[in-house]
Amino acid sequence: MAQFVEFGEKAVKAKKIAVLGLGYVGLPVSAVFASRGFEVIGVDVEPLIVETINSGQVHIVEPDLDMLVQAAVAGGKLRATLEPELADVFIIAVPTPFKDDNEPDLSYIETATAMIAPLLKRGDLVVLESTSPVGTTEQVCEWIGAKRPDLILPEPNREKCDFHIAHCPERVLPGSVLRELVDNDRIVGGISPRCATSAADLYRSFVKGEIHLTNARTAELAKLVENAFRDVNIGFANELSIICEQLNINVWETIELANRHPRVNILKPGPGVGGHCIAVDPWFIISRAKDNAKIMRAAREVNDHKPTVVFQRVKAAAARLREPVIACLGLTYKADIDDMRESPALEIVEMLAQAEVGKLLVVEPNIQRLPQGLLNLSHVERATLGSALKACDIVVLLVDHRQFKSVDRDLLNLRIVVDTRGLWR
Ligand SMILES: NC(=O)c1ccc[n+]([C@@H]2O[C@H](COP(=O)([O-])OP(=O)(O)OC[C@H]3O[C@@H](n4cnc5c(N)ncnc54)[C@H](O)[C@@H]3O)[C@@H](O)[C@H]2O)c1
Repeated sequence: MAQFVEFGEKAVKAKKIAVLGLGYVGLPVSAVFASRGFEVIGVDVEPLIVETINSGQVHIVEPDLDMLVQAAVAGGKLRATLEPELADVFIIAVPTPFKDDNEPDLSYIETATAMIAPLLKRGDLVVLESTSPVGTTEQVCEWIGAKRPDLILPEPNREKCDFHIAHCPERVLPGSVLRELVDNDRIVGGISPRCATSAADLYRSFVKGEIHLTNARTAELAKLVENAFRDVNIGFANELSIICEQLNINVWETIELANRHPRVNILKPGPGVGGHCIAVDPWFIISRAKDNAKIMRAAREVNDHKPTVVFQRVKAAAARLREPVIACLGLTYKADIDDMRESPALEIVEMLAQAEVGKLLVVEPNIQRLPQGLLNLSHVERATLGSALKACDIVVLLVDHRQFKSVDRDLLNLRIVVDTRGLWR
């Protein structure tokens, strides 16, 4: 017989939570829930990640996360495992990359769903936190239904069901994740209004921002649109930077002057757009609305093309020198983090390395060693900022890490400078 799933803010506090995926999102989420007194099981398919966390350490760079995880593990509130176990709440925070054809790859969500489906019992809550194309939460529901015909699925107009399912997208900013997890407003989209309420009750245990309830499809699109909006605006700035270069006009001055208009706010151009969100999420909209997402597609194309423009510029500068030495400053996709996913800086350095335009001195203070594609190449070396600046003919500033802000300007004046971030203007 169908059960009426009742959550309520008080009932939820006693719940055991399983978080699938202990990455940049899942680990902070696990640690924050644990710090609020919940029993949390963190599940990841990577044994090294599970071992690291169980030893009270972390595998990602995020301010204060190490202390929070250490306290949660030592206090017995957080435990990592390779396999999920019975819980009351299942939070899915696995990757949602896109494939070579720019179509979303939902295989991680499908696998995670398959892992939890056998464990679901009446009254449970499933929350999809992964950034997802419209319809994915419904798809998760269908996948569960196919494996568990014994359970009554939630539906938009069905009052009674055996478990709840909602989408609660993450909007955290790497580098400020722990603060933003708590302070940001949250969108919670349920398959049914009851599903949304259940999930909101859970998140109220730590979220200080407002929690906005909606349906799952709207929540999915709202999250994607946030990043598509950013991508389109950055695309405008990047296109402008290419136009300015063609017309031999200083893009930074142009933007500064245009932004003096009270209703104009042009963003800063850069070497491209990276990361797992802004460079990825617009494709999730485009894939579901191919003929109508014209501006979003154009912005993606402009932003994806920008690394090639920077590469060509450096290559042309190097071609004028004999045995050029090029200092490449930064590999990550943005400042002061260690994340290189979809990084335009990395793409540019890889293109320069492949084209063998000169000796590359790579400076990246946030990583332990060079990524695979740059290892074992005789013309690519890791270097410190000081040694690279002294030895180079060309400086390519790719990421505005804080260490790069105050460099010796006299030294820069003697070099060819390609400053993709406008850090030294
Ligand atoms: N990182 C961010 O700042 C951020 C911000 C907003 C939204 N998101 C979204 O959150 C989701 C997760 O992103 P992330 O940055 O944490 O990714 P991540 O790659 O850092 O972590 C994902 C983790 O999931 C694990 N995993 C893969 N399949 C699994 C499975 N079946 N069961 C258990 N674990 C599994 C991986 O081993 C990995 O450790 C993505 O959809 C992403 O777009 C990320």
